[in-house]
Amino acid sequence: MGKDKIRIGVVGVGNCASSLIQGIEFYRDGNERDSKFEPLGLMHLDIGGYKPWDIEVGAAFDIDRRKVGKPLKEALFAKPNCTKTLYPHLNDSAVVVSMGEVLDGVSEHMKDYPEDRVFLVANEKPCNVEKVLKESGTDILLNYLPVGSDRATEFYAQACLNAGVSLINCMPSFIVSDRHWARRFEEKGIPVVGDDVKSQMGATIIHRALARLFEDRGVKLDRTYQINTGGNTDFLNMLNRSRLRNKRISKTEAIQSQLDIPLEPENIHIGPSDYVPWQNDNKVCFLRMEGRGFGEVSLNLELRLSVEDSPNSGGMTIDAIRCCQLARTRGIGGPLLSISAYAMKHPLVQFPDSEAKVMVEEFIQGKRER
Ligand SMILES: NC(=O)c1ccc[n+]([C@@H]2O[C@H](COP(=O)([O-])OP(=O)(O)OC[C@H]3O[C@@H](n4cnc5c(N)ncnc54)[C@H](O)[C@@H]3O)[C@@H](O)[C@H]2O)c1
Repeated sequence: MGKDKIRIGVVGVGNCASSLIQGIEFYRDGNERDSKFEPLGLMHLDIGGYKPWDIEVGAAFDIDRRKVGKPLKEALFAKPNCTKTLYPHLNDSAVVVSMGEVLDGVSEHMKDYPEDRVFLVANEKPCNVEKVLKESGTDILLNYLPVGSDRATEFYAQACLNAGVSLINCMPSFIVSDRHWARRFEEKGIPVVGDDVKSQMGATIIHRALARLFEDRGVKLDRTYQINTGGNTDFLNMLNRSRLRNKRISKTEAIQSQLDIPLEPENIHIGPSDYVPWQNDNKVCFLRMEGRGFGEVSLNLELRLSVEDSPNSGGMTIDAIRCCQLARTRGIGGPLLSISAYAMKHPLVQFPDSEAKVMVEEFIQGKRER
């Protein structure tokens, strides 16, 4: 076992960071108030001795004028964040949101939407990210930048490399699944997890499980779509189709990887599909699968999933953080294949989810290196 607490940093104090940090406090409070507290909604209460409340925030970076320079507990609830409040009574912490490097984080088209729906760039000088990471004693940085922020993601990944900090890349700019970047982290002995969170009960995990089920039951999947709508800034950002390339690759490969023979591109359509402001952080997925079973007789399946988007990602990162810290204490560097396959849509190596779950348990027990 390593040190008692895990210090995380977040890049992007948006809805996902807000849900994760509120969730940590929700479970901490439940545990402190009631010794018989039975936490719901977690895959693991304990990972190698770490409980959810052993995670604390040491640093936060954003570029929005309503968040930069503000105490973290205020910034987490500032507009345009719109996720459901899980736990409103966040404690005072010393963390004040630092000004990050904007680079390609903010899409031009946002200027056509109301201010309380978009990112508003602060007129501040960027901090020295590497210095803040070192001085705050951050162990692990979570990247929650908007889809399409490839340059900004590379900038923060480089800062992690320089500062000896692990990266959990929650979004689809490929770092951990890129062999070049992966090797650089491995050479420096820094464990990393990524890319692009596969939510706890999201469209991807359900679509993957059903694709696997079709295969396992001998049903030929002929074509499928997965259409998603939502009303948070993630969905607004993704209206700019030029930012979407990697998101589509990540979501599509996550399903194709579960089929023995991948579908022809024209027979699979997966993507964030529209922005519906009143949905806020509620995401709705419409899924259709068409196939042929015994005697080549046709069948089809329709499914509608409605979830609060951001807590759904927190349910996975809470485990990714603790697995990553375990690797740090064990002196293991480079991509963590087991937790990345389980918790991320676009890992370096894909595995069926049932296999990835076993691999994660073996990793936690120390029976598997990564
Ligand atoms: N279930 C999920 O919600 C889920 C699942 C998988 C992946 N993701 C991905 O996680 C990422 C974060 O999602 P979210 O809902 O929190 O997004 P969000 O839009 O709520 O938050 C993004 C934050 O990044 C900030 N930002 C923009 N440019 C920046 C820069 N250069 N430096 C620092 N901060 C910057 C914005 O001001 C905002 O606070 C997205 O890429 C999303 O696609 C989310």
